[in-house]
Amino acid sequence: MKYSKRVVGVKASEIREILKLAARHDIISFAGGLPAPELFPIREMEEVSRTVLEEMGQEALQYSPTEGYEPLRDFIAGRMAKTGVKTDRDEILIISGSQQGLDFAGKIFLDPGDTVLCESPTYLGAVNAFRAYEGNFREVATDNEGMIPEDLEKALKETPDVKFIYVIPDFQNPSGRTWSLDRRKALVELANQYGIPIVEDNPYGELIYEGERLPSIRSLDTKGLVMFLGTFSKTFAPGLRIGWINAPKEILAKCIMVKQSSDVQSSSISQREIAVFVEKYDFEKHVEKIKSTYRKRRDLMMDSMGKYFPDSVEWTHPAGGLFTWVIVPDSIDTKELMERTLEETKVAYVPGASFFPNGGVKNTMRLNFSNMPEDKIVEGIRRLGELLKREIG
Ligand SMILES: Cc1ncc(COP(=O)(O)O)c(C=O)c1O
Repeated sequence: MKYSKRVVGVKASEIREILKLAARHDIISFAGGLPAPELFPIREMEEVSRTVLEEMGQEALQYSPTEGYEPLRDFIAGRMAKTGVKTDRDEILIISGSQQGLDFAGKIFLDPGDTVLCESPTYLGAVNAFRAYEGNFREVATDNEGMIPEDLEKALKETPDVKFIYVIPDFQNPSGRTWSLDRRKALVELANQYGIPIVEDNPYGELIYEGERLPSIRSLDTKGLVMFLGTFSKTFAPGLRIGWINAPKEILAKCIMVKQSSDVQSSSISQREIAVFVEKYDFEKHVEKIKSTYRKRRDLMMDSMGKYFPDSVEWTHPAGGLFTWVIVPDSIDTKELMERTLEETKVAYVPGASFFPNGGVKNTMRLNFSNMPEDKIVEGIRRLGELLKREIG
């Protein structure tokens, strides 16, 4: 069979392959980015589904406008104020998870051979989405405060055909790090200077466990260059597949066009279910409940790593989100170690190499702390610590 070059260039996601193994019941999995399923509002959703079908059943099962359900777009526009953005429904497009927004960014900005500037490391799902449009990657050096402006400027100056800058400024996947306000401002200044759009992917901003939420990159945008991606996957339920794009009208118009040919619209029923949920119940309280569980799990993972990991291992202290990033001594290749870890300890993690689009870094791993119950977090970290101690010797 002869497939397009586009498809031949895309590799199967290693995370998905690992997730298949990690789903086994005997495995303690720190691998996926899954929310805690026991926090899904199942009883409330029984009521909500009934209300939607009783009160708007015909609309909920019918085709609906590509832009999305207006009451939901209004709710999202109001919620964007939390990130410092003043906007309205005309700048909101409902999409089928923020993953679809990544696909659209690739579709509207990239020609084969164009370059995306991204954080090093960055989200693997975005890399795969952009690769499908035959994009290349120039990784920009990062530290605890975000992209290093000098390296970003160098990349903008020296790289031909840069089409956009892709960033995850809040509680990044995979590193758990958050950009400082100064770095956010520096990014916008450089993007303005070079006239390059920014794709701000922000699935985790609402899940903040300490400190104040910083203004989004989109809120600092003065030239209509920022496309913001949000989602209900982590604050509500990923199975509904509802996310959004908040962008200047010019960019949004292109996204609406590609959405029409991609899937026409996102699920009419899912959109109404979320809209009715936020009307009937206190969404803020729901998010607070999730935050309080995840904060406890984060603290427990941090404490357990302090207790069981060897001294030569380091990790990030995420102020929100779902992940911590672990750096082990250079001598360890976490990808090679993965299979043995699964066999010997029944613990799963994601090898960090997957998050560097141009490869090269072998001694890191991403651990998720949202999905496993407390006792499994302690036991999994204890087993991983023992194995690392044996490896390091
Ligand atoms: C950084 C980032 N972007 C986008 C997504 C996609 O999320 P969804 O399509 O469920 O909104 C994820 C999911 O884990 C993610 O971590």
